[in-house]
Amino acid sequence: MQLFIDSADPIEIENAYRLGLISGVTTNPSLAAKSSQDYPKDIEKILRLIHGPVSIETVATTYEGMVAEGTALSRLNKHVVVKIPCVSEGFMAAKKLSSHNIAVNMTLCFTLNQALLAANAGVLFVSPFLGRLNEIERNSGFELLKKIKQAYSNYNIKTKILAASIRQAEDIETAALIGADICTVPYNILIGLSAHPLTKKGLDKFLTDWKGSGLSLPV
Ligand code: E4P
Repeated sequence: MQLFIDSADPIEIENAYRLGLISGVTTNPSLAAKSSQDYPKDIEKILRLIHGPVSIETVATTYEGMVAEGTALSRLNKHVVVKIPCVSEGFMAAKKLSSHNIAVNMTLCFTLNQALLAANAGVLFVSPFLGRLNEIERNSGFELLKKIKQAYSNYNIKTKILAASIRQAEDIETAALIGADICTVPYNILIGLSAHPLTKKGLDKFLTDWKGSGLSLPV
């Protein structure tokens, strides 16, 4: 399972990328509003840095507007993925953009039917929002992910499942066990993923023993 960062902050994205933690980025209008003063400039920075999928969301509410924004965004860079919400105009726009070989990520997916519509629109990614569903009813986000995984494998659907709305490190493990293709993760969770107290304790002991041994590496 690949990991993306769920952020619009170029500094967070650069740190995560340099640490080798991520292979793509998902942004959304709320994340942009939180971290950006100049969104076009930040997107330019992000696209210069990341050589992998970068989802940028449309903000139009009509079919024509979504197609126009999506087409313009896709021209910024070959790594741009146009993020479109799971609403009826969105499915139409996604189908149109996908038919022109523009990569689309259908976002705000909360039902299997929305995921099936996304697949029928021929999009590259669908993003079920696990955390927001889990907050309403325990594990219902994971149940949705299981259903999408099962239905997509029944029909050998090529749309990739991008698990989103991650709240804690354990959600990533659950998404991987269910079979999400990608998980998009906030920065604060990403940077904690490598740590475990027993790894630290074990390494401290290895290094103490090594120093006391007087040995050297065969290099
Ligand atoms: C996905 O692409 C979204 O940006 C996302 O994960 C939003 O989740 P949240 O707002 O529920 O954290």
